This record gives sequence, C-alpha cells and structure tokens, in this order.
Amino acid sequence: MKSETIVNPGLEGVIAAQTRLSSVDGQAGELIIAGFPVAELAGKATFEETVYLLWHDALPNSEQLTAFQKALASERVLSQVTLDLLAGIAAQKVPVIDALRMAASTLSLRTPNEAATDNAERDAYALVARFPTIVAAYWRLVNGAEPVAPRSDLHHAANFLYMLSGEVPSAERARALETYWNTVSDHGLNASTFTARVIISTQSDMVSAIVGAIGALKGPLHGGAPGPALDMVFEIGDASSAEPYLRAKLARGERLMGFGHRVYKVRDPRAEVLSAAAARLYQRDGDMTLYNRARQVEQTALALLAEFKPEHKLQTNVEFYTALLLHGLGLSKDLFTPTFATGRIAGWTAHGFEQRRLNRLIRPQSVYVGPKDRRWVPRAER
Ligand SMILES: CC(C)(COP(=O)(O)OP(=O)(O)OC[C@H]1O[C@@H](n2cnc3c(N)ncnc32)[C@H](O)[C@@H]1OP(=O)(O)O)[C@@H](O)C(=O)NCCC(=O)NCCS
Repeated sequence: MKSETIVNPGLEGVIAAQTRLSSVDGQAGELIIAGFPVAELAGKATFEETVYLLWHDALPNSEQLTAFQKALASERVLSQVTLDLLAGIAAQKVPVIDALRMAASTLSLRTPNEAATDNAERDAYALVARFPTIVAAYWRLVNGAEPVAPRSDLHHAANFLYMLSGEVPSAERARALETYWNTVSDHGLNASTFTARVIISTQSDMVSAIVGAIGALKGPLHGGAPGPALDMVFEIGDASSAEPYLRAKLARGERLMGFGHRVYKVRDPRAEVLSAAAARLYQRDGDMTLYNRARQVEQTALALLAEFKPEHKLQTNVEFYTALLLHGLGLSKDLFTPTFATGRIAGWTAHGFEQRRLNRLIRPQSVYVGPKDRRWVPRAER
C-alpha cells in the first residue's frame, strides 16, 4: 500500500456487510427494523417478539411465541459461578456495565453434562435471557440488597423491573420498557454490532462476540451518553438557565450529550418514538415538570448547535430521550447503559447468526507511517 493512500479512520461510508436486520437512512431520518419502520414496531411488539423477528426474519405466530417465551424464561436463572462473581465484584463497586461484561463471560460455562462445543444458539438464548438477571442481581448486590430471583411467569420486560425493585410493575411501565428495548434492538453497523461481527468473522464464539460488543457499547460516544445527558438536564435546573449553561459548554469546546450522530443528519427517529413514550409515562405519573424542562433544554441546545456548528446539522439523538424514559421508569443512571445492552443484545445475537451464515473474515488494512530503517541498539547504550 502506498503512503498517499486515502485513510478513513472512522470507516464512514464503508459498507462492510449486507444485512436483513435493520436499515438506517441518516438523511431521511428513517430506521427500519427487519422490514418494520421503528415507529410501527416499537410500541406494539413484546421484546420477545422483536428478538424472534430478528433471529427468524418473521413474526412468530401464537404457538411459536409461547414456545419462544417459555424457552427464554427457562434460561433466566444465573449459575452459582455467575452469582459468586457478581457478589465478589460488588464489593469493589465496579460500574454496572463492567459487571455485566465480566458476568457475560461466565455464560460460556457449560453444565457438567453439556458438551463444551460451540453452540451459538444455546449461547444466544442464555445471553438474551440472563442479561436482565445479571444487571438486576448486580444492582441489588452493589446496593446492599439480596438479588431477587427471576419469575418465569412474567414477560421479559416485566421480569426485569420486578427483579430490580422486587415489585411486579404495572402493564404501562413494562410496555414503556419494551418500547425502549424494541427501539434500540438493532441499528445497522454501529460500533458494538461491528465489534460483534468482527469477532464472529474469525469463527470465534457468540459469548466472546457479545463480551466484545459490551466493551464497545460502554464508551460515551456510543452507549454511554444517556447518563451525562440527564446530568445536563438536572444541572441546568430551571429552564431559564439552559441558554447560558449550554452556551458556556459549547464555548469551552465541550460536546452536548444526546446530540449529534455519525449517520443521522436529521432528528433520530428513535428520539421521536422515545419522546412520545416518555411523555405517556410522565403524564400517567402526573408530573410533567422534568419532561417539559427536557424539551426546553432540547430546543435551546438545537438552536445553539445550529449557531456554533452550522455546517454539521447536529440533531437530537436516541440517548437524550432514553435518559428521560429510563429515569421515568425509576432506573438510576448507572443502569442506563446496561439496560441499553439488554435491548441491543437482540441485534447483536441476530448479527452474530447472520455473520456466521455469510461469513468472510473481516480484516481491513492500515497504512504504516513509521520509519523503516531503525537499527537495534543494545540495552546498555539506550
Ligand atoms: C455521536 C458522535 C460521536 C458522532 O460524531 P462524529 O460523526 O464522529 O462527528 P465528529 O466528531 O466528526 O463531529 C463533527 C463536528 O461536530 C461537533 N459535534 C458533534 N457532536 C457534537 C455535540 N454533541 N455537541 C457539540 N459539538 C458536536 C464536533 O465537535 C465537530 O466539530 P468540529 O468539526 O468543529 O471539530 C458525536 O455527535 C458526539 O460526540 N455526540 C455526543 C455524544 C452522544 O450523544 N453519543 C450518543 C450517540 S447515539
């Protein structure tokens, strides 16, 4: 490769996979998930239906759905090894997303009678089913409470909220979480999904791919943004402080969390779905103060981003309303990114299956820009 080769460090515009899982059109502000516009799917499907849809490229009929729900529910219980690990790391109070990454690795363990062969399907069931159990168990341990055992009679979303609080949530709250999970279930070749596909492309296993994906997701440029986005709304407090606060931030060259996207140059369609879901939730709870304040912050932020970065078309992204919705569900901000992972696991595993079917080792190239004529210097002479 010659040194004048054009380097594309962010791989923008590079098409590295064909997929039937989702389509992201950044100019039109359109997200299609397995054939469904996100707004058509998100508020209607149960999370189990979305996982089935992504894995099988079709919605399940009633019989198939019942069997699928049952199979997933039967995989929810954590092994003693996973629980012991969570208890051990809770003592060090590591962030929940790191605990999830460490505990996800233990899902490679087989029961004594199980063959230690690669079984992507078995791993995918365990990963989808146990992510909520891991997150909820760790959350309780780190807060000095005993984990609440999963209940197989509850749906995936209701069971997660139940394991966090010990109380069965209302149908509306479970619905709000499902709408969130469906909305973020898949999103083209984002950084964590790409990571998972790269790992699968080496013919490595599903658990390894997902552990890598969690590592990619946790960064603030990807799935780590909703916590800081909510902090911003709280720090602003009264809406009249929004303008000076945000202006000062931008003048210091800081980024506003929850705004901007590598692909979307118009409003992220997921922000639309989540903003409506958050509005319903806050309305039901009878206090729209925070929701209204967030909308004012959003409007001010958009006006200032247009003023400071007019050429970049920076718009609200999914994380801004994720923060509001998950906060409305009573989730602490330490749970935001792990809860994102418990939804995105649907897409990660589906991409894992797809990559296995169409596999070609993913192996780009780099341009070497260092010297080529160094000579070895003995240690004593350096
Ligand atoms: C998501 C994100 C990483 C995508 O960015 P990207 O495609 O890599 O864009 P770039 O980093 O090339 O940014 C382009 C320009 O817009 C600015 N910009 C991008 N997002 C910005 C934000 N949220 N606030 C302020 N400025 C921003 C950059 O500073 C840069 O300006 P410059 O050219 O004057 O230096 C970026 O928008 C961001 O950091 N957003 C905040 C974090 C966030 O919300 N992440 C969740 C994503 S779903």
